[in-house]
Amino acid sequence: MRPISAPTPTTRFRRTRRSAAIRALVQENSVTTGDLIWPLFLRDGENMREPIASMPGVERLSIDQVVAAAETAADLGIPAICLFPYTDPALRTETCEEAWNPENLTNRAIRAIKAAVPEVAIMTDVALDPYNSLGHDGLVRDGIILNDETVQALVRMALVQADAGADIIGPSDMMDGRIGAIRAGLEGAGHKDVAILSYAAKYASAFYGPFRDAVGASGALKGDKKTYQMNPANSDEALRLVERDLREGADMVMVKPGMPYLDICRRVKDTFGAPTFAYQVSGEYAMIKGAADRGWINGEAAMMESLLAFKRAGCDGVLTYFAPAAARLLRDLH
Ligand code: PBG
Repeated sequence: MRPISAPTPTTRFRRTRRSAAIRALVQENSVTTGDLIWPLFLRDGENMREPIASMPGVERLSIDQVVAAAETAADLGIPAICLFPYTDPALRTETCEEAWNPENLTNRAIRAIKAAVPEVAIMTDVALDPYNSLGHDGLVRDGIILNDETVQALVRMALVQADAGADIIGPSDMMDGRIGAIRAGLEGAGHKDVAILSYAAKYASAFYGPFRDAVGASGALKGDKKTYQMNPANSDEALRLVERDLREGADMVMVKPGMPYLDICRRVKDTFGAPTFAYQVSGEYAMIKGAADRGWINGEAAMMESLLAFKRAGCDGVLTYFAPAAARLLRDLH
């Protein structure tokens, strides 16, 4: 494409900005409810909604409440939710076996949601951090995060999630080879139609802080995740990771975090044309929400502008804690 620009007054860009009607005609990108994946936090108990201090407006929900949230998603037209468990600290171990317990919080929630609202797609998280007393996404020995042993654990974890009824498996761990291993495991177990949305280009980011509070991993985590998550300075490496994960059997890929990495979203979409998602992570949500709650920015406008930025950068959809608020706003506009 070669944009044509004649000098003023032949071209007056303001002609196409004159009125809402003309602006709508020339608008290049838009956010729809169908673009949204809503991440939800789980906790044990009955009728429990527990606020998360660093994520104003977001709560940990007991299973009955997460079923209600899934019903809200269905009513609003949000196509998918993504589940993250706050695991009882007593169940967190260095060997992480609660991760592949068919009766763990996530798997019980999947069954309950599927029974109540089968039309909402359920995405899961595949990583060991909510189950690991050491707070890492992988198994740790002598301070080293073990790759291949972790991959075996992740396959077990993904298979019980698929058995429970998960539609989309979301490996967020950044071990090498996990997509191929999970894909082979799913095929072998007869789950040939379960999709994988790979956290392919996931950076070692300071923007995950509030999430780690939400799943209770902040206290446990020693050190950082830099030996498995990407260096924020790198861009070409993201393309190599996405290519590798697509080859290994990912159906969709993700860039994470979102707003600080829009350049990566664009490169990934342009290079591979695969279904591409961004995760607008907890710290991004907290910044917008925190500033809005103090009256420093217009929260609704900032929320919609941030979501539009993902679409402009080439994303097909966004994981965002704003999903229900954005869906309500979009519904009320029409
Ligand atoms: C970990 C995981 C993280 C997030 C999703 N899965 C945190 C991390 O890698 O430490 C972050 C999501 C967010 O910040 O909203 N498996």
